[in-house]
Amino acid sequence: MKALRVENLTYSYAANEKPVLADLSFSLNQGDALGVIGLNGSGKTTLSFCLCGIIPHYLRGTMKGSVYINGKDTRTTPLHQLTLEIGIVLQDPNIQLLMPTVEDDLAFGLENQNMPPQMIGETIDRICDLTGINDLRKENPNHLSGGEKQLVALSTVLAMNPSIIIFDESLSMLDDRAAEKILAIMQKLKETNTTMVIIDHTGKSRSIYDHAFVLKEGMIVNRGSTEEIVQAYFSSEV
Ligand SMILES: Nc1ncnc2c1ncn2[C@@H]1O[C@H](COP(=O)(O)OP(=O)(O)OP(=O)(O)O)[C@@H](O)[C@H]1O
Ligand SMILES: [Mg+2]
Repeated sequence: MKALRVENLTYSYAANEKPVLADLSFSLNQGDALGVIGLNGSGKTTLSFCLCGIIPHYLRGTMKGSVYINGKDTRTTPLHQLTLEIGIVLQDPNIQLLMPTVEDDLAFGLENQNMPPQMIGETIDRICDLTGINDLRKENPNHLSGGEKQLVALSTVLAMNPSIIIFDESLSMLDDRAAEKILAIMQKLKETNTTMVIIDHTGKSRSIYDHAFVLKEGMIVNRGSTEEIVQAYFSSEV
């Protein structure tokens, strides 16, 4: 069974009939890392919403075709079931952080999974060490910098330990040291067979990809050797 399977996916937002994604098809095996690259507005975030079930469950619009997460059809599987299998680090961390403190945000998903309190505490300790956010634990997420918010949003997803993770520009606001830390975490996730979809205009995560494609106006315009695609894109930015 494929970890992710996308079949003839077409999507248009309610506000505009023109499709933002046009007839996309691809699949990933468990443990694959896919790089999705493309210019601003090419449809990367919209694709990420389709891959995790936010579309069609939260956003109105017209979705044609199908997305399967570990064999489950996103259209017919409730979102709370999909979130057990797939996590997404949103491009805008403000949407992801809703609780009064960082610790509360980290605990939120684990409590919903009915994890025992002691285990929640241990998980939060481990994740904060991993991502280097120990000194932010008592802070209000609203008061953090963009990069700090990104690290916390990423930590909330890692805490849930999903088998598939989507990173939407998760390195975009990080300094070199934090980015190195997150890249090392991605590498480790790969070694433990986590499936990853990585959207990253910085190009820093390119060595992690097993597969890559370029999105242009919602279409896959370039397939082939990962190295060639990444090299061609980041040297010309076409
Ligand atoms: N909520 C929305 N309603 C209508 N159109 C939208 C909405 N969100 C995005 N779009 C349009 O969909 C297209 C793709 O947007 P998307 O956010 O998926 O691009 P992206 O590749 O993630 O861009 P970026 O690199 O800037 O993050 C854009 O033309 C955008 O204007
Ligand atoms: Mg985007």
